[in-house]
Amino acid sequence: MSNEKQVDCGRRGLLVATCAVGGVAGLTTAGAFVSTFQPSERAKAAGAPVEQDISSLKPGQKITTEWRGKPVWILKRTPEMMADIPKNAPELADPNSERTQFSETPDYAKNEYRSRKEHQDVLVVVGICSHLGCSPNDRFQTGPQPSLPDNWDGGFLCPCHGSTFDLSGRVFKNKPAPDNLQVPRYMYISDTKLVIGKDEKGEA
Ligand code: FES
Repeated sequence: MSNEKQVDCGRRGLLVATCAVGGVAGLTTAGAFVSTFQPSERAKAAGAPVEQDISSLKPGQKITTEWRGKPVWILKRTPEMMADIPKNAPELADPNSERTQFSETPDYAKNEYRSRKEHQDVLVVVGICSHLGCSPNDRFQTGPQPSLPDNWDGGFLCPCHGSTFDLSGRVFKNKPAPDNLQVPRYMYISDTKLVIGKDEKGEA
């Protein structure tokens, strides 16, 4: 199923499953296929932490992997994207990621980039909207376009009820989604490999 397709969010259980499968099967970047990573069946079944190599991830590209049946996006932001992110703060519902209703943001991601400082340009978030569980679409192109404000600096648009998120996964004010996208616990085990679902404090 294409992420672009409108879906019925009233059927939440089906929706999350459908979006998750779609997201993982897609394994897209910002417009192009680059990876077909799949965690082992044993890791998926156990909900275990999942390793992901990001050595081939280029600026502007996003890959999707799976952790605990959920799509996890890994986006390597360009210098231009990074420069635009701080501008969004006045328009965001929770710019400092202090809310805990939907998910608690790890301390190392409570910054405007919502990322670890050793790889500040790399965003790691669960690609599920905090409203009713749709999977938002990439909207990396800046400027005026349908369903988005004219001053759009890139981010994500949830197709179900129009919630918008910036390139750090932070939800804009006055949208149905009550919280930012979830940053899962994660850590780098080398310069080009990270593990999702685990950090220095243990497993999520
Ligand atoms: S599920 Fe309703 S806005 Fe995302």
